[in-house]
Amino acid sequence: MKEKKITTTVQVFDTIEELPPEVRLLMKKAQAIRDQAYAPYSKFKVGAAIQLEDEVIVTGSNQENAAYPSGLCAERTAIFYAGSQYPHKKMKTMAICIKSSAKVVTEPIAPCGACRQTIAEYEVKQDQPIEIYFMGEEGKIIKAKALLDLLPLAFDASFL
Ligand code: THU
Repeated sequence: MKEKKITTTVQVFDTIEELPPEVRLLMKKAQAIRDQAYAPYSKFKVGAAIQLEDEVIVTGSNQENAAYPSGLCAERTAIFYAGSQYPHKKMKTMAICIKSSAKVVTEPIAPCGACRQTIAEYEVKQDQPIEIYFMGEEGKIIKAKALLDLLPLAFDASFL
């Protein structure tokens, strides 16, 4: 038996002002759509904005349902829209932010496992990394240079 160590590297920005201007704009779009989220049950609002290879930006927020598992996360709402409306355009960057009614979240909140798996599918499909930036309501922002940096040992179509 051998041990194999798997590591990842992310970048940490102290404030939104530190982000490159186009990413700051993307995060602002994510914040705007987040505030429109339909989250009456969790009161945990999430926004996602995706910059496509041209100027197009696609956004999405979490959409909850009285039958709880029928709801959908913000990241998947956005990426399924991008995948269906712009199937031939590559996705460059995704910005994600949250807002909880319970407290002011100052730590970056990473996308859930199901969303990572979903984003990974498009990253593999387009054979180009998707940069992921995520934050709480305020405070630091974490950047991963590729989704697969957040999903070691990912499952993909090559296993089928
Ligand atoms: N949620 C997201 O939108 N994205 C995530 O990555 C994690 C969780 C949503 C789902 C649900 O509406 C609420 O946050 C609480 O889990």
